[in-house]
Amino acid sequence: MQGKTILLGVTGGIAVYKAAALASRLTQAGADVHVLMSVNATKFVTPLTFQALTRNRVYMDTFAEDNPSVISHIDLADRADLFLVVPATANVLGKMANGIADDMLLTTWLACTAPTMIAPAMNGHMLEQAVVQHNIATLTARGVQFIDSGVGQLACGYVGRGRLAEPEEIFNAVDHWFRRQTRFKGVKMLITAGGTREAIDPVRYIGNRSSGKMGHSLALVAARLGADVELVTTAEPPIHPRIKVTSVETALQMRDAVLERSEIADVIIMCAAIADYRAATVHEQKRKKEGDSWTIELVKNPDILSELGAAGLSAYLVGFAAETERLHEHALAKLQRKQCHMLIANDVSQADVGFSSDSNQVSVFTRNGLLFESSVTTKMQLAEQLLDLIADEKGMDA
Ligand code: C5P
Repeated sequence: MQGKTILLGVTGGIAVYKAAALASRLTQAGADVHVLMSVNATKFVTPLTFQALTRNRVYMDTFAEDNPSVISHIDLADRADLFLVVPATANVLGKMANGIADDMLLTTWLACTAPTMIAPAMNGHMLEQAVVQHNIATLTARGVQFIDSGVGQLACGYVGRGRLAEPEEIFNAVDHWFRRQTRFKGVKMLITAGGTREAIDPVRYIGNRSSGKMGHSLALVAARLGADVELVTTAEPPIHPRIKVTSVETALQMRDAVLERSEIADVIIMCAAIADYRAATVHEQKRKKEGDSWTIELVKNPDILSELGAAGLSAYLVGFAAETERLHEHALAKLQRKQCHMLIANDVSQADVGFSSDSNQVSVFTRNGLLFESSVTTKMQLAEQLLDLIADEKGMDA
């Protein structure tokens, strides 16, 4: 946490006093903490408390521009490594989920590209309200991480869920999050993405519906977590200084690119939808429209994942499987046949998940059987979950 800039948004609930303890703990751990308070929060604890604990000025008013050389909310937003909201009221959750920016805290948050963690605190009935749950789900789907509130005595007299997580628990979640940011530091990761195109003639090809989004999400998240990524893809790749891209079109090109890079890889994730067959002969010129039918002879492509599995590499080997029926049975059989360590299977017959979609839902298998079943979630979020599982299975430190 040393040297990290944390923006701590504090909103108006009785649990504000716990945010003071958290601000102190984060500052002592070496973080540069800047507190942004809602006006309601100042009714519980004065800004001076946070200023004294963090040794930084506290922000409340978007228009109090004390330093003419910068625009405060943009300057703060740009410097942040993490945006924390502790405690978060139902009100601020509603505003964040709907893009409302009517104070300094919310305006800065909207301008901030750093990840967000939120610890809600409110009456249990408020927390259970459908609209509050909907706002939490919306923010979660956009990548916000929640630190769940605990069960206990609430200020309103009720005993139930809604109590702010303890400062130490929030501190540990933040500490864990920062450690995770370098979890893949120096790890060499080879990832394939997209669907291959097998030429029939100079104009036509046999392809599939894979968009490359899942593989690209994995590459991007892995690079952000410190990995050195070799991405072999058929689609328009994401840009990141730690992603090295090799563009290919056919299964054979993908095989060459993968085999060339496989020996030095620590983790190989075969996310690409590689054509199982290619045209036996590729016409040099565009084939004319002749006759009522056209039979194309197909020959089998090499199965790259099986080759990697059989090669006995030191890399942790992850395969994907798109299935339309009997998912578990087919996935487990594939895991064994291809000798990979992990197989991530999705049912592509479901609407809204899988090919081309921004969302996905998968079941993850290892040699011990079913390890994890995800909910329907964004491919970016799923990439985070999958990389966590890979790190756990590979025994990397969190
Ligand atoms: O056998 P199936 O195509 O369902 O297996 C899918 C897994 O195998 C994916 O990880 C995919 O990248 C990989 N694969 C391969 N070479 C092929 C076909 C699939 O490496 N020719």
